[in-house]
Amino acid sequence: KKPKKAALFFEVEILDARSRQKLCFLDKVEPHATIADIKNLFTKAHPQWYPARQSLRLDPKGRSLKDEDVLQSLPVGTTATFYFRDLGAQISWVTVFLTEYAGPLLIYLLFYFRVPFLYGPRYDFTASRHRVVHLACACHSFHYIKRLLETLFIHRFSHGTMPLRNIFKNCTYYWGFAAWMAYYINHPLYTPPAYGDDQVKLALAMFLFCQLGNFSIHVALRNLRPAGSKTRKIPYPTRNPFTWLFLLVSCPNYTYEVGSWIGFTIMTQCLPVALFSLVGFVQMAIWAQGKHRSYLREFREYPALRSPIVPFLL
Ligand SMILES: NC(=O)c1ccc[n+]([C@@H]2O[C@H](COP(=O)([O-])OP(=O)(O)OC[C@H]3O[C@@H](n4cnc5c(N)ncnc54)[C@H](OP(=O)(O)O)[C@@H]3O)[C@@H](O)[C@H]2O)c1
Repeated sequence: KKPKKAALFFEVEILDARSRQKLCFLDKVEPHATIADIKNLFTKAHPQWYPARQSLRLDPKGRSLKDEDVLQSLPVGTTATFYFRDLGAQISWVTVFLTEYAGPLLIYLLFYFRVPFLYGPRYDFTASRHRVVHLACACHSFHYIKRLLETLFIHRFSHGTMPLRNIFKNCTYYWGFAAWMAYYINHPLYTPPAYGDDQVKLALAMFLFCQLGNFSIHVALRNLRPAGSKTRKIPYPTRNPFTWLFLLVSCPNYTYEVGSWIGFTIMTQCLPVALFSLVGFVQMAIWAQGKHRSYLREFREYPALRSPIVPFLL
């Protein structure tokens, strides 16, 4: 039997996923062309849909194809039909993270310095007499400065962009909670924790331990991915003992993140902080479950002992 001759060129048509209206027809597309190449060709016909806005699918309701997918290895004939969806305006992840994290940092400091119109004129620019209030400000600022620096220098993201509308939701969450927490912690009538210095010291130790842990995991994840690539691998413990939590959970950075906020809750003994920790935990648990499921789907040899976020439990 003669081997099937590889097609010299493909024809590609792109239809709107909702209306099925034909948006673009490309003849003579190279078999080695990737989805990213096709998106670039499509943009030439429709400049308003730049590549990051485009989702191309084989089925109108199916999954989006990856940028790296190669035309000739997809289940299509020599005339390939793709369905297009507009993902909406996009902004870069780095911008997103910087706005999300710079906000809480600055908002908290406004309350810490008691700028006018927050607590009444006689408290303007006064300082709290409780040491824990100053410590809490240092910890809060440290946390967000760490995250900003990690976003700039550590994380290697695989997606360049995120829909613009998400930023409004995320900023409301981060900025709103920061204002709410800061209002109470820096309030002139704030009362320090019930068990005094012992409680604060224990909380500080927990906070710092978890910050170091979180940072160590971010470095370990960075080292899994060569610069400029998008590869995803199974993370394993390294020589750094903080990463040994990878033996038990898939997303130890979230475990440590929640631990930091529990530490901050114990330190400040403040209800909005406890709520922020709880909401953060629920959100990260949902993400961790999603990531855990995709590890199991992607890697048959994925270690069976691991749970998504809380060892043996969740
Ligand atoms: N307080 C809160 O409510 C809250 C909520 C969420 C996050 N956070 C904090 O923000 C940090 C970052 O969050 P995130 O959701 O972006 O964390 P993440 O999904 O765990 O990712 C961290 C970085 O590692 C990369 N990465 C993850 N798994 C990888 C793998 N198997 N192989 C190679 N690279 C991998 C990610 O790339 P990709 O771009 O490919 O994912 C990303 O650049 C968290 O660790 C946490 O400290 C806080």
